[in-house]
This record gives sequence, structure tokens and C-alpha cells, in this order.
Amino acid sequence: MQTAEAKGEIKNLISIEHLKKYFAIKQGLFSSVKYVKAVDDISFDIPKNSVFGIVGESGSGKTTIGRTILRLIEPNSGVIRYLSTDILSLNARELRIFRRKMQIVSQDPYNSLHPRKLVKNIIGEGLQIHFKLSSEEIYQRVKDILEQVGLREEHMFRYAHEFSGGQRQRIAVARSLVLKPEFLVLDEPTSALDVSVQAVILKMLKSLKRDFSLTYLFITHNLAVIDYMADYIAVMYLGQIMEIGSKNDIFSCPMHPYTLLLLNSIPHPDPRKKKKKVLPKGEIPSPIDPPQGCRFHTRCPFMKDKCVNEEPEIREISKGHLVKCHFPLN
Ligand SMILES: Nc1ncnc2c1ncn2[C@@H]1O[C@H](COP(=O)(O)OP(=O)(O)OP(=O)(O)O)[C@@H](O)[C@H]1O
Ligand SMILES: [Mg+2]
Repeated sequence: MQTAEAKGEIKNLISIEHLKKYFAIKQGLFSSVKYVKAVDDISFDIPKNSVFGIVGESGSGKTTIGRTILRLIEPNSGVIRYLSTDILSLNARELRIFRRKMQIVSQDPYNSLHPRKLVKNIIGEGLQIHFKLSSEEIYQRVKDILEQVGLREEHMFRYAHEFSGGQRQRIAVARSLVLKPEFLVLDEPTSALDVSVQAVILKMLKSLKRDFSLTYLFITHNLAVIDYMADYIAVMYLGQIMEIGSKNDIFSCPMHPYTLLLLNSIPHPDPRKKKKKVLPKGEIPSPIDPPQGCRFHTRCPFMKDKCVNEEPEIREISKGHLVKCHFPLN
């Protein structure tokens, strides 16, 4: 029998169906429990060896999705599949073994590394847990991975606080890669860094992806970064995906008004070519009590009556290009 890849079909590494995560919160001593609808019925696939970008404003639920896939947060409902494995059905022991394949690198290179541990131990500790290697083997693997991320053997004997932000992020990437994962969640991995350092780290992440045959879930609020990194993009708003498509679909043929607004907010390098801006109206509503109908209607410049009363389904307009809007653009 021919495999999906042999037939030229796209093979998905991760498949998410109807994922929901509501956080219970209590605002005052006597108030009842309310729910933050951080991720509210989301479905998407991440093709193997691709970079799948999630973009959206602060609080839209990006981090919650990333952490839920790794089961660092337990969802309320939905399905998360890693190839044929149902991630949510794994017990604690199975999950511990599986975790090696899925790693996360988060935004803050200052807090994510233990300040009083040598780099050698920060990177080597996962090897000890997962592979039970000898100390010579661990030393060699740590040295090799440091070189892969542009650091040197001597850096093994320094503490994390002795490094710059960019170098710390290299260490954090090395700590993940040393376990030979297949899937990496990169949650705003460069947004705390200076612009010049950002570019270097993004370039490194791209070449590591190629060298290690990795698949990335790349989370950012920065469209220029997503343009550089991603093959596929999901645009999030208030816990839901508004639009999903290839990078070309999203940048060349945006169909959701929210995507258009985000694209309009990227500064154009040539000020003479500035397009007329369509500006969003008002503030982002609370995810505790999101608007009825289309969640974006309160800020949408093209809003009609139907948008207030009826929630649109997400529908496929062309192959792989989906939009959750009653009146898609283009
Ligand atoms: N542990 C928690 N308890 C309660 N609410 C939470 C918790 N974690 C996240 N939230 C809320 O869920 C929503 C989504 O948060 P999330 O961190 O996923 O957003 P984000 O898109 O990653 O934002 P940012 O760009 O600021 O990182 C927000 O309203 C946030 O306040
Ligand atoms: Mg976040």
C-alpha cells in the first residue's frame, strides 16, 4: 500500500479538533465563578515538516493553544492527535515518554533558565532523565548541540545569568533540541530580544528546522516575523480562529476583515506606498463575555445585521483557505 507521502498527500503531524479551554475565575469574594473562553472550539492541522504560525493580539489564546497541545494545560474538550496517537488519552507515564518528542521554547529567556545551574547541567538534565546516558556521552551531546546553536564548549561552564538575551535563547533552544524532538512550540521566541538579535535567532531557527527535520508551531503577534517563518497561518481573535491558510493566502488574499486590519498595521518600508488604512473600532472585548454573533462584529468596519445575530461557521473558500465570516472579502 502506498503511504500518504508517496501519493504526494500532505501528512499531518498534529491534528486538533474542536479544542476548548475555559479558565474558571472568581473576580470578587461573593461573585460567582466565571469562565475565560481562552480557546473556544478550534480545529487545525499542522503538516509534518512545516512551520504553522499562529498570530493574534494579546490575550487571543495563542499560548493556551501551544501549552494545551503539550498537555502543560489540560483542555476542557477536543481532540489532539500526534500522528495516530491521541495525546489526551495518554496516562502520566506514557505522557512523560511522549514529551521528549514535543518541546516548547517560550518568550522570556531571562526567566526560563535556572540562574544557578551551569549551562552543561541545564542542557544535560533532560538527557539524563530521558536517555540515561553516561556522563561522557552527555558531555559530548551537550557540546555538539551548543555548536549547532552557535555557542562553544567553554559556554558549558558558565551560568545562564552570564549570557545576553539572544545567547540565553540559544541555550533554551539547545535544551529542547538535545532531546531530539520532532515538534517544537516556539512561543514568541524572539519578542523579548533586540531587533538585530531577533533576525539572527529567527535565521538560526529556520536552519535548525531544516537540519533536524522539525515541525514548528510558531506563535507571535508580529506579522513580519510570521511572514519570514511560516508556511501556514492561523489568525486568532478572542479564542477563535478567524482565518487559516497558506502564507500566500493570508498575505496576498486576506478574506477576514480582522486579517486585513492586522496586515494594515504592518509599517510599510516605503512611506510613499502607504495604503489607506482601515482602522479597528474600539477595544478588544472581554473573553469572559465575548460578543454574540460574530466575535469580531463590535470592531469590524464592514459589520452588518447578520453579524450581530448569527455566529458564522468557519468554511473553506478555496483549498486549505478557511474563513469565519459571513461576508468574506476578495
Ligand atoms: N491560568 C489562567 N487563568 C485564567 N485566565 C487565563 C489563564 N491563562 C490565560 N488566561 C486568559 O486566557 C486568555 C488567553 O490567554 P493567552 O495567554 O493564551 O493569550 P495570548 O494570545 O498568548 O496572549 P499574549 O500575546 O499576551 O501572550 C487571556 O484572556 C488570559 O488572560
Ligand atoms: Mg502568549
